Amino acid sequence: MKQIKEIEWSLLINQAKQGFTRAYAPYSNFHVGAAAQTKSGNIVCGCNVENASYGLTVCAERNCIAQAIIAGEKELTAMVIYTEQEKLTPPCGACRQVLVEFFEPTALIMAANHLGDQKKWTVNELLPDAFTPKDLISL
Ligand code: THU
Repeated sequence: MKQIKEIEWSLLINQAKQGFTRAYAPYSNFHVGAAAQTKSGNIVCGCNVENASYGLTVCAERNCIAQAIIAGEKELTAMVIYTEQEKLTPPCGACRQVLVEFFEPTALIMAANHLGDQKKWTVNELLPDAFTPKDLISL
């Protein structure tokens, strides 16, 4: 696992906060920002984007990953999910599956809020025994 330094976590938290300010969440009013570090050391961010057709909503985590792909970065090393909720926001089930695609199982995902609370999980803790690209390779 790549060790992420404290300074890198705080940069990620700041970017996730930036994402949070851009959230488009007029239906739930639940604003989420996310920021990810790429293998080459860049940071990409995202926010949730809702839709009047509610089911088309895309979470901050998946929009953040889409930004990485657009930037040509497919290997991600850490992510922060930022909300201004007292209870930290963990990634939803759909996002966990998408995280597995682009992060090592040992990579850390942090939930953070405006109160300075933080919790970290490995990707493997979030989705053990995941279905991965390797499962598509038939022998
Ligand atoms: N949401 C995220 O962006 N990430 C999560 O991990 C949890 C949920 C968004 C989706 C929706 O816009 C709002 O939060 C309420 O579910």
